[in-house]
Amino acid sequence: MPNDTEFVPQSSRTDVLEPALAGLMASPKTLPAMLFYDDEGCRLFYEITRLPEYYLTRTETALLSSLAGSLVPDGFRDAVLVEFGGSDETKARILLDREDSPFTTYVSIDVAGQALTDMRARMASTHPNLTVLPVVADFMQPLSLPLPEGPRMGFFPGSTIGNLDPASATRFLAAARLSLGSGSWFLLGADLRKSPNILLPAYNDSAGVTAAFNLNVLQRLNREAGANFDLSRFRHEAVWNDRESRIEMHLISTRDQVVTLGGQDVSFREGESIHTENSYKHTQDRLVAIAGDAGWEMQHMWQDSAGLFGVILFRAG
Ligand code: AVJ
Repeated sequence: MPNDTEFVPQSSRTDVLEPALAGLMASPKTLPAMLFYDDEGCRLFYEITRLPEYYLTRTETALLSSLAGSLVPDGFRDAVLVEFGGSDETKARILLDREDSPFTTYVSIDVAGQALTDMRARMASTHPNLTVLPVVADFMQPLSLPLPEGPRMGFFPGSTIGNLDPASATRFLAAARLSLGSGSWFLLGADLRKSPNILLPAYNDSAGVTAAFNLNVLQRLNREAGANFDLSRFRHEAVWNDRESRIEMHLISTRDQVVTLGGQDVSFREGESIHTENSYKHTQDRLVAIAGDAGWEMQHMWQDSAGLFGVILFRAG
């Protein structure tokens, strides 16, 4: 049935409070990057993707568009496209909008429930014959997916893989391989290792949108977990960690202070950080090795002419 839905329940207050508290009680303090994506966070992330400094989205989109014909394996028909983190279908449309698209089902897994609902409405009007299955879930957790029969292609664009440390990336890719089954395909889009002179401005833009995106996580804890963060007492910081090959985002406390959430006091020293995100930047060879450890065999790899961004097609052996 076209545009069937298979909703998993929306996140509850404890889903936000518990991981937040665990991270803030740890030393050094952390918050899970997944918490960025409430409605306001999704809106701010969309703004980030339009910033001059944030080359990732436009580079990947241009690369995928230029490749569209060669991205789909020969003989693919009545196939299922499974996007991990797909509340914004823009990238999937590069595959789905083609006249010769082999996909009859689009499964999209994301924590952002409202964004998935909006996506489903847009897809229903432009692709009435496509079965759209939104799944509100954290795709890092094991999932039993409502997958119909037919050849499958996993789709993980946007360099979301960069949020995972290499061991977690391998675990995720191994779980995705199990959900999709042997013989499946997997299309990965990832930002590549490069000079911090290009990377740092992408995470510390002059308009301050990334700072607002980072600080929104505290606002979200105020709204959804009854916390009392004063946003004027934290500042955004992005640093390049060369040894780990990653951009790190932090929120730095600008003074000694105590914040309350879930009935717990959390104290901060002046200059103390909450580590909110890692964005790993691997070489293509390293990405192939990480996926290889999860049982994915590289079939093709491409990058844009400036070597900024990579797209890799894998097959489950
Ligand atoms: C959506 C995880 C790919 O790491 O570049 C953008 C998120 N963080 N600016 C990234 C993000 C700060 C983004 N990903």
